[in-house]
Amino acid sequence: MADCMQEWPEAVVRVQALAESGLAAIPCRYIKPPCDRPAAPAAQQQEPSDDISIPVIDLGELLANGAGLGNVTQAVSAACREWGFLQVVNHGVQPELMRAAREAWRGFFRLPVTEKQRYANSPRTYEGYGSQLGVEKGANLDWGDYYFLHLEPEAAKSPAKYWPANPGNCKEVSEEYGREVVKLCELLMRVLSVSLGLDEAHFQRAFGGADCGATLRANYYPRCPQPDLTLGLSAHSDPGVLTVLLADERVRGLQVRRSSGEWVTVQPVRDAFIVNVGDQIQILSNSMYKSVEHRVIVNAKEERISLALFYNPRGDIPIAPAPELLTVADQPALYPPMAFDEYRLFLRKKGAKGKAQIEALKGHS
Ligand code: OGA
Ligand code: NI
Repeated sequence: MADCMQEWPEAVVRVQALAESGLAAIPCRYIKPPCDRPAAPAAQQQEPSDDISIPVIDLGELLANGAGLGNVTQAVSAACREWGFLQVVNHGVQPELMRAAREAWRGFFRLPVTEKQRYANSPRTYEGYGSQLGVEKGANLDWGDYYFLHLEPEAAKSPAKYWPANPGNCKEVSEEYGREVVKLCELLMRVLSVSLGLDEAHFQRAFGGADCGATLRANYYPRCPQPDLTLGLSAHSDPGVLTVLLADERVRGLQVRRSSGEWVTVQPVRDAFIVNVGDQIQILSNSMYKSVEHRVIVNAKEERISLALFYNPRGDIPIAPAPELLTVADQPALYPPMAFDEYRLFLRKKGAKGKAQIEALKGHS
């Protein structure tokens, strides 16, 4: 398989170029089967309301003086069990830095396609400017472009050639943003450990201590002439530990799947991050916390940008359910140990496929 992942199986088309060509109908490769379309009856839409929206958790007190760990822990635990998603406010990352990071990437995506092409990525590492996920020939495609980079650990950081030269501050701002968001992830790992009755450092230790990884995916969803037929990003769960998303406050697009099958559109709170549990937490917690499927819808009027920071385990250590959470009779381990380097190959080869990967792993414990 390694060989067929050196290059894309066919010519890559930039969704931005398609959108800007002014076509009235999208090419058939972007048309989803009826059951996956945004308005499919099996997946009734839910508009966000006071009754139904992902929990918003304030980390201000905890960050200021370490107080309120109990309250935060309880709220995070409930959000993880009920939604697999939460929003955090007063999270310690400066709003100016969040805006600067988003504007830097907006600046990049506004460059002419020819300049962006200099950073065209390959499925070998995915670093750079991309328009698809997975290397299956003839695969159905999503209505979005992206830029992908490794931020941490230091040894795995994307080399300078993978970073856009324009905007001039893009690398510096993204790196600072990455460092700050990683600190937030480390705090959330402590909260998650405690919430499961584990010692505070358990998650961090199990995922590789100071060698945990962080990658950044800037997502760009151009306007779409037929938004009802396609998706900006197909339903998937995130393979890593935690995802911290900076979403557009004006243009909604992220939808989260409830256990009932309904899709709920997330309304981002100002200056908040949207945080979700990835597959590695489902594995470590032996499914007490589940990674939840989500997807992105697009619209005809406005483009949308989001920044996803993926906090990942160190790549080469086995990740398995925490022994403290298991009992032979009632709670046997649901997943066999697997290193993240191996785990993420699935997504890299096959693209977004709901929760197929972690479901498949379950059969092999
Ligand atoms: C992702 C993701 C959501 C969004 O990049 O994995 O789910 O709103 N993004 O862009
Ligand atoms: Ni995701």
